[in-house]
Amino acid sequence: MGRIFSGIQATGNFHIGNYLGALRNWVKLQDSFESIFCIVDLHSLTTLPSPENMKTWIREVAASYIAAGINPEKSIVFPQSAVSAHCELGWIFSCLTPLGWLNRMTQFKEKAGKHKEDANLGLYAYPVLMAADILAYKASHVPVGEDQKQHLELARDIAGAFNRQYGVEYFELPEPYILKTASRIMSLRDGTSKMSKTDPSDYSRIQFTDDPDAVALKIRKAKTDADPIQATPDAMKDRPEALNLLGIYAAFADMTVEEACLKFEGSTFAPFKKELTDQIVATMEPIRLKMISLLKDPSEIDAILKKGSDRANEIAIKNMNEIKEIVGFLRV
Ligand code: TYM
Repeated sequence: MGRIFSGIQATGNFHIGNYLGALRNWVKLQDSFESIFCIVDLHSLTTLPSPENMKTWIREVAASYIAAGINPEKSIVFPQSAVSAHCELGWIFSCLTPLGWLNRMTQFKEKAGKHKEDANLGLYAYPVLMAADILAYKASHVPVGEDQKQHLELARDIAGAFNRQYGVEYFELPEPYILKTASRIMSLRDGTSKMSKTDPSDYSRIQFTDDPDAVALKIRKAKTDADPIQATPDAMKDRPEALNLLGIYAAFADMTVEEACLKFEGSTFAPFKKELTDQIVATMEPIRLKMISLLKDPSEIDAILKKGSDRANEIAIKNMNEIKEIVGFLRV
């Protein structure tokens, strides 16, 4: 049995892109893999949230995992900051990562924007910590959305650099697990940019916390065009907003985009948007209600995270001991 590792940042505004590109797949995979699902709060620190928000968001993301169907009895669910191996291994990897590799990372360029000189070191070194997340557990597969592909390639390069530097075959290269469908959900306002937690427009995304009225309103306001839906995705390739909505429908209805196009061929967007809203609500509303009920008693979530942290530490400390031995640290 392989081992999967994945995580979502502890920030507000997490959305159906996170659900379709990551969480939904984890729920299915947890039956076939030993599974470790992290709430990556150290990564969130790069945006310096207030301590109150940090705590709230860690619990909210944990609640979303469980509400979506992650079974904490079976899978390990924990906050990254509870396992110090992530930072320790992150440092070791920092010393093996040429700056040239980091300079290629497009996500840093996007996030730092024009203010590169003011961006913090954490944001720049972010993919190195991500490699440490995965490799501290020697995970074999990493289920993520398309936007994380470059970071996973870097994690593989770092694993290779460690093995070469120390003349060992310690790390196997982790495999990205990126599904073809719904791996890149786009903004509801602009079909050429990714749905993202940091988009200033609330109308660009559907969040886990949106009730059915909010979902209906956001879908009604989602950008489309005046033409009817066409029979194939190819025929609609110059209509990114339209195609994105059909992709979201297909993902929630468990069909291919081709099937969704055929189903709605000739229809205008008004009736389609009603059906799309119903599909989203059918999946997301039970998750939202479960999250609300879980968050009423944070002590239950905290107990799950404590147990998960203990199990995660057990694996990571054992690996870190081996890694420290390989690196040559004196084991006093
Ligand atoms: P984060 O928190 O930005 O996103 C969490 C997961 O959601 C996926 N995702 C999307 N999928 C489809 N369409 C979208 N619009 C969309 N937006 C986000 C992401 O691909 C991701 O799978 N660096 C990571 C977190 C992380 C991690 C790790 C992941 C830290 N360490 C180790 C895997 C393994 C991140 O910021 O994800």
